[in-house]
Amino acid sequence: MVAAFLLDPLMDADDATAMVGLCEAFPAYGLYVTERSDGDFAPELAQRYDAAANYVRTGGRFGRREPAATLALRTNYLRESYAYGTEVVAPGIERFLHHEALLDAARSLYGRPVIEPAIAYANILLPGQELAVHTDVPEFRGANRRLFPQWLMVVMHHSGLFERWRMPIATGIAYFADETAGLPEGGELAYWPDGADGAVTVLPTRHNTGIVLDTDSVFHGVDRVGPPGVDPFAVTPGNVLMHEGGRWVLRPERGSSEVLATFGWNEVRFSVSWKAYCFTDEAERDAWRTHGDDLSLDLILAQLSADLGQRGVLTTDELTERELALLLIDTYERYPEPASP
Ligand SMILES: [Fe+2]
Repeated sequence: MVAAFLLDPLMDADDATAMVGLCEAFPAYGLYVTERSDGDFAPELAQRYDAAANYVRTGGRFGRREPAATLALRTNYLRESYAYGTEVVAPGIERFLHHEALLDAARSLYGRPVIEPAIAYANILLPGQELAVHTDVPEFRGANRRLFPQWLMVVMHHSGLFERWRMPIATGIAYFADETAGLPEGGELAYWPDGADGAVTVLPTRHNTGIVLDTDSVFHGVDRVGPPGVDPFAVTPGNVLMHEGGRWVLRPERGSSEVLATFGWNEVRFSVSWKAYCFTDEAERDAWRTHGDDLSLDLILAQLSADLGQRGVLTTDELTERELALLLIDTYERYPEPASP
């Protein structure tokens, strides 16, 4: 069993109310677009080809049979950063970023006392949207999502070959909403604390609650938001969601007066994610900052290829980068199997 810390309540009532105000005051939320890495290994593969391919293969946690295009629409959710390192984007986020309940849970998660909050960001899922089952993109000394493809970082962690370089990251997922509006249907967090072969745990989203866990290791996803059968709302690049006059309003683009749709707090799933590096001591934190003992792509691929050879699945060294990428994902990422529809 991997530890997960439930925080209920997460903050005191006034702080939680202030978080709802912060969410509403944020100017506009845009479509989440996966950033590209600088690396060019197998560049034709999407950054999270691993999770997307599994989603399309299985039809999600409940094995629903839908066209790939519909499934793609279901994962077009909105995301904005509130804080990134020491940069504050949403004034007032500091109380959340450095909240003692999150810091305490992060310390307990790995038994590492030095916690360095790295990011806080909002995810908004509209009716019909969901988050495919995945593990998050981990980070290693010298290897992160800015340098190398995201799927490769995930493969590296699942292979267990690079633990010496791994940065233990604690992830907090917190929920804030205007409770007076009622809760949205669905949108539960589904996670597998005992691994892909174990039972799933389902956590409802309630205002001012949260969970801290190792989402780089624990498979998780978000169940479909909204009543059964609801079609996904087709959010397209450039669309923005903003809170106006007590409603969430989706517009085609910033500055537009056109309204594509409006939603109440009781129709959207709003979460604020938090990630923090967890260090044993200041010396370890300094090694990370100074880049002593960093990995390189050559070393990563050599180690993985050697392991594939030992497993007997690498029978030729004539593979293209894409073929090697698919073999790595297939070999190391074992997803939970979907439940019956
Ligand atoms: Fe995640």
